[in-house]
Amino acid sequence: MARDIEELKQEFIDIFQNNIKREGKDKLLDYLLNQSDFFVAPASGRRHNAFEGGLVAHSINVYNRFKANIIQEYGEDYQEVISDESVAIIALLHDLCKVNTYTVDYRNQKVDGQWIQVPYYAYNNSLPYGHGEKSVYIISGFMRLTREEAVAINWHMGGFDPRAQIGSDLSEAFSRFPIALLLHVADIEASYLDEK
Ligand SMILES: [Fe+2]
Ligand SMILES: [Fe+2]
Repeated sequence: MARDIEELKQEFIDIFQNNIKREGKDKLLDYLLNQSDFFVAPASGRRHNAFEGGLVAHSINVYNRFKANIIQEYGEDYQEVISDESVAIIALLHDLCKVNTYTVDYRNQKVDGQWIQVPYYAYNNSLPYGHGEKSVYIISGFMRLTREEAVAINWHMGGFDPRAQIGSDLSEAFSRFPIALLLHVADIEASYLDEK
């Protein structure tokens, strides 16, 4: 059941403002609120969270899974390994690449012998720049990312990333930056367990 968009929006803003203090974050939040469809966009066209508000819901689900994975791996002293600011930046913003890429369109469908127009999400990507790498690019236009944040967001698709082949940087990224692996796991858990 989809949660109320206003409630999701407020939850996202609370996590964002309580944890992210970095220069540029206000402009980034303003972009999300006023120049993008972030708070109404779906998380995907037809797979997980393909409904209005699906992207913000997914981002919060990934944040919760990511934080739980970090605590499980590093214990309650996890802040010696990663700051709460990094946790929020990485999880909340990992899928900014999906902003402004889905538009509502209609197709004809026969229901009980009658043709009716049903809405669907059409893929309309005005900035074809890849996936994780596109999120890094968008965020970097507003604020600086640490190397760990950039690597984690860049490789959050793990083996599902079309760039992930033998000889790619994926395995090196996961072994040098375990946080990137924990984000990838959180992303899959959210998509397949929380949003199936
Ligand atoms: Fe993604
Ligand atoms: Fe995601």
